[in-house]
Amino acid sequence: MSEPRKILVTSALPYANGSIHLGHMLEYIQTDMWTRFQKHRGNQCIYVCADDAHGSAIMLRAEKEGITPEQLIANVQAEHSADFAEFLVDFDNFHSTHAEENRELSSQIYLKLRDAGHISTRSVTQYFDPEKKMFLADRFIKGTCPKCGTEDQYGDNCEKCGATYAPTDLKDPKSAISGATPVLRDSQHFFFKLPDFQQMLQTWTRSGTLQDAVANKLAEWLDSGLQEWDISRDAPYFGFEIPGEPGKYFYVWLDAPIGYMASFKNLCDRTPELDFDAFWAKDSTAEVYHFIGKDIVNFHALFWPAMLEGAGFRKPTGINVHGYLTVNGQKMSKSRGTFIKARTYLDHLSPEYLRYYYAAKLGRGVDDLDLNLEDFVQKVNSDLVGKVVNIASRCAGFIHKGNAGVLVAGNAAPELTDAFLAAAPSIADAYENRDFARAMREIMALADRANAWIADKAPWSLAKQEGKQDEVQAICALGINLFRQLVIFLKPVLPLLAADAEAFLNVAPLTWNDHQTLLSNHQLNEFKPLMTRIDATKVQAMIDASKEDLAASQTDTGGPSGNGELAKDPLSPEIDFDAFAAVDLRVALIVKAEAVEGADKLLRLTLDIGDEQRNVFSGIKSAYPDPAKLEGRLTMMIANLKPRKMRFGISEGMVMAAGPGGEEIYLLSPDSGAKPGQRIK
Ligand code: 2FM
Ligand code: ZN
Repeated sequence: MSEPRKILVTSALPYANGSIHLGHMLEYIQTDMWTRFQKHRGNQCIYVCADDAHGSAIMLRAEKEGITPEQLIANVQAEHSADFAEFLVDFDNFHSTHAEENRELSSQIYLKLRDAGHISTRSVTQYFDPEKKMFLADRFIKGTCPKCGTEDQYGDNCEKCGATYAPTDLKDPKSAISGATPVLRDSQHFFFKLPDFQQMLQTWTRSGTLQDAVANKLAEWLDSGLQEWDISRDAPYFGFEIPGEPGKYFYVWLDAPIGYMASFKNLCDRTPELDFDAFWAKDSTAEVYHFIGKDIVNFHALFWPAMLEGAGFRKPTGINVHGYLTVNGQKMSKSRGTFIKARTYLDHLSPEYLRYYYAAKLGRGVDDLDLNLEDFVQKVNSDLVGKVVNIASRCAGFIHKGNAGVLVAGNAAPELTDAFLAAAPSIADAYENRDFARAMREIMALADRANAWIADKAPWSLAKQEGKQDEVQAICALGINLFRQLVIFLKPVLPLLAADAEAFLNVAPLTWNDHQTLLSNHQLNEFKPLMTRIDATKVQAMIDASKEDLAASQTDTGGPSGNGELAKDPLSPEIDFDAFAAVDLRVALIVKAEAVEGADKLLRLTLDIGDEQRNVFSGIKSAYPDPAKLEGRLTMMIANLKPRKMRFGISEGMVMAAGPGGEEIYLLSPDSGAKPGQRIK
């Protein structure tokens, strides 16, 4: 057995001035699944996070709410912690950057950088709000675009024409905070001399720490030469004062990544067996991974390793970057109700549905991930309920009824258990490499095999026959064992399902290596339904509630910010009558139905639609394993669908069926009396 690895993992620190939404959750769920996998495998893996509590936005929001920044960040921390806990994101510590450990570490790192000559100072001229008596960051200045003349644009770019510029280029600039006309003022700023680390970064970014796409992007920045980074802000500012520099504060992005260390330090200080230096000292052999979104790569893969290097700490082992979340193929939108807060989701749906869906779609790349709500319902219902849980619910009853809940000894299909065993290393490799989508595909392929085997053995038929009880018990005992294996493989993604399954299986918490054994002569507990289908109306209710959130926030902020479009139902977008009338829907007689060689899911249907015959491929085989039974039956087809070239031939239309998939596909039929070829109106 190799030594357990020592791994420290972080997710980006959420700002303490807003709610967590499903875009944020993508990262926390991704990190949590990876962390749980490491723990499941017996490694020491510590997952820390914190609220990112500093900066002018937080200071101004607290002021607007009439509370102190400390009160604001305490309120937000309580909200964030509850959201994460309910999404089963299992931090070992969730701290705050506004904490003593972070003040100390930030000062220490800054002083080391300063003493090593990596800090410079110079005067910077910036807009200053004479009423508010503060310097204005670019996003707090508004004015007219110098390029296209559009009014009310932010200080760094124009939303209309896309131009980027300096705030001093804006025409008629105004402070977005007070409305006053800003004045230019000089102030001394502190800079981190990033160019000192050019060489080191060139090597480090190419040393396997980053995904290729990320390393390539960074190479562009590195090749064009690095700039010194402004790490100070003037009072008033909510943050840490720079040691020895009254009225000067660390810029929020200086102390934010140090917040990773500070959260870990806070945990170490109350956990005797954890040693801070073992993870952060220059010669540490522990692994450190940061999970982040692609928008904050420069902070994590340039500034942060340079700061660590300059201050004498170790650098991260890897920066794992993910893409953005889209919903129904588009940017999350408040007016469409697809800007969904974690809390709104939790009010309507179980966290494990989303965890599974994200897992099923998350590869190791930086591509965006689309939460397609229709696909979400379909996939979760078909995979988790229709495939995984189905195995247990099919088998448990026979064991309780026929053998008092005891799994008999033996192995009714060693070839199947061998296949499960053989698949484990590849599934583990997929998890390790954050290719959750591949892990889920491989696990579901095993679930398909298990279901097909049980369907073939049909214990429900055998149970009705004399003298077949032993066979029924042997089949169902193996079914339950295969279910247990699937649960072991899925546990990092579905910890609640795993806990409920452990209770039913009457076993101690399952670990990865348990997949190497089978339960035999083992007493089960009562079977309770482990997961219910997603009801699409709940998804709709969540969308509606998200629109209500928007309506509420518009009353708060005193005006609509939506784009005025009509609210649409994202599950079934409206179409006009012409679009409906364009669909040629016909009654079709199934003349022939046959399996397609080399295709797991398809049937080839020959359909009579009155004046002609059509060849249609349909993915309904799982529900109609004996296709000949369909022959002579009427159904409905879309006759004017553009013919589609498939591997097996051309499909000339589509038959209509309902249901979540798997065995639950129901081909639609007209009432008797309908004639092939009749149009459906
Ligand atoms: O982009 C953000 O939301 C930042 N609050 C992330 C900070 S990550 C780390 F560096 F602290
Ligand atoms: Zn413009």
